[in-house]
Amino acid sequence: MIDKNAPIGVFDSGIGGLTVVREIMRQIPNEKIVYFGDTARVPYGSKSRETVTRFCRQIVRFLQAHEVKTIVAACNTASAYALDELEKEIDIPMIGVVKPGAKAAAAATRNGRLGVIATEATIGSRIYNQYIQQLNPGITILGKACPLFVPLVEEGLLQDPVTDEIARRYLAELIDSDIDTLILGCTHYPLIRSTIGRVMGEHVTLVNPAYETAMELKEMLREKEILNTEAPQLGSNQYQFYVSDTTDKFIRFANSIMKYGVLSAKQVNIEEY
Ligand code: DGL
Repeated sequence: MIDKNAPIGVFDSGIGGLTVVREIMRQIPNEKIVYFGDTARVPYGSKSRETVTRFCRQIVRFLQAHEVKTIVAACNTASAYALDELEKEIDIPMIGVVKPGAKAAAAATRNGRLGVIATEATIGSRIYNQYIQQLNPGITILGKACPLFVPLVEEGLLQDPVTDEIARRYLAELIDSDIDTLILGCTHYPLIRSTIGRVMGEHVTLVNPAYETAMELKEMLREKEILNTEAPQLGSNQYQFYVSDTTDKFIRFANSIMKYGVLSAKQVNIEEY
């Protein structure tokens, strides 16, 4: 039996998964979280399926060593490449960000024309296309890799003319193709949502898989009767953060995007797992 007081394990290739963590904190505030960010091996978005799956397998072992009750692959690339394989290998439930995002987008489109922006790996995997077309084969999906958005966000250029210019170039073909819904299919993109929204225009609905994933996680925990209904006791270390590289940049970034003050994180050698 799974212990409902156990923490939720959340992982990402680095810092971007904190956009999922903050949604989980908002939507299910009684839950404990153990977060792992693979800051030493980021980015995943330009690596092969084999490499990403190997990295994710090590992280899953690390999180299991922390006796988590469920694992959230907060990274779109990890969800695209590794989730199907890894969920078969473990006996606790595992969810990713792609399915919840795909479901929300399929429900949101009115004209049946959807865009997805993500890393090269996620776009190349066509995973969003697969899930959306399973839900509604009539929907047309246009994918566009936007690799420069990740370093722009990590450099803190959230409201900057450089980011505006790159967004205009990347998104031009999606604007021309008359989509009415756009999936922000990478952990970092919700942080430049206002720029993307401005460039795409008001008539385009932006779907944030981080938000949808936290909703689906809550639903899944409730169904399995492992949703934590009581707030954890004071001093119980509700949120723990681990990274594979030094912690300073991670802590700085975390505090720039989250209300919850991240005071410390621990560096671990993930290759040992
Ligand atoms: N977290 C990744 C994703 O959502 C973006 C960063 C990377 O390429 O590792 O796809």
